[in-house]
Amino acid sequence: VGQNLVTIKQIDSTNTFLKNLLSNSKPVPEGTVIMAEEQYAGRGQQQNGWHAEPGKNLTFSLLLNPSFLPVNQQFDLVRVVSLGVHNALKQHLGSLLKIKWPNDVYYADKKLGGILIENIVQGSTIKHAVVGIGINVNQDVFPAHVPNPASVKQILQRDYDLRLLLSEICSHIEAAYLRLKAGNVTEIREEYLAALYWLNEEREYKSNNSVFTGNITGVKENGLLVVNSDNRELMFDLKQIEFLNK
Ligand code: BTN
Repeated sequence: VGQNLVTIKQIDSTNTFLKNLLSNSKPVPEGTVIMAEEQYAGRGQQQNGWHAEPGKNLTFSLLLNPSFLPVNQQFDLVRVVSLGVHNALKQHLGSLLKIKWPNDVYYADKKLGGILIENIVQGSTIKHAVVGIGINVNQDVFPAHVPNPASVKQILQRDYDLRLLLSEICSHIEAAYLRLKAGNVTEIREEYLAALYWLNEEREYKSNNSVFTGNITGVKENGLLVVNSDNRELMFDLKQIEFLNK
């Protein structure tokens, strides 16, 4: 991953760009990375936008062809990519780095980065996965509308080389991906769970406009979040639950 690197000065969204290449049947080698210095229409989860100051952050998309992965196990790819980003950043940032379910990268209570995976499905397997990653690296200030952001620079108090961080993230994603491909899915699931933000902690959540207290105890094979509340096991998808940060 990352051996074939295309850098673009300005683009709407690297995910959109890579998806368009594929739909125009352009041959794109697996592991290709499209990186943008500036995205003017970066996209996030749940129809959100992705804001990043030009030239200071990592905004890139990479191509995987996980045709060995049945569509109903697509969440394992979310696990692999989250773990890859997490493991790369953890070397520099230490144990306060967590994965906020399903695939945000958090440092303490702040968001350092996010992931947007768009799958192109053929039959019952995933033909292409366009894996979009945005990491706040050297940005000092964020607009007020961005919810609780943090950057690597704000934490380390120094600039970090974007190319170096990109290659570290690519290597860690590749390592985790190859483990999944080799069939070590149990390990990947365990490691993902162990890295989760708020795992086994008594915390407040909001669902259906009501606030409740619970503990994250697991993540189902298909990616649903399992929260134990009043000795009941509740399950949520991304639209159904909100983490209440104090
Ligand atoms: C999220 O946290 O909601 C996911 C953010 C994903 C942002 C990245 S930046 C590179 C790629 N291109 C996009 O338009 N989005 C992803």
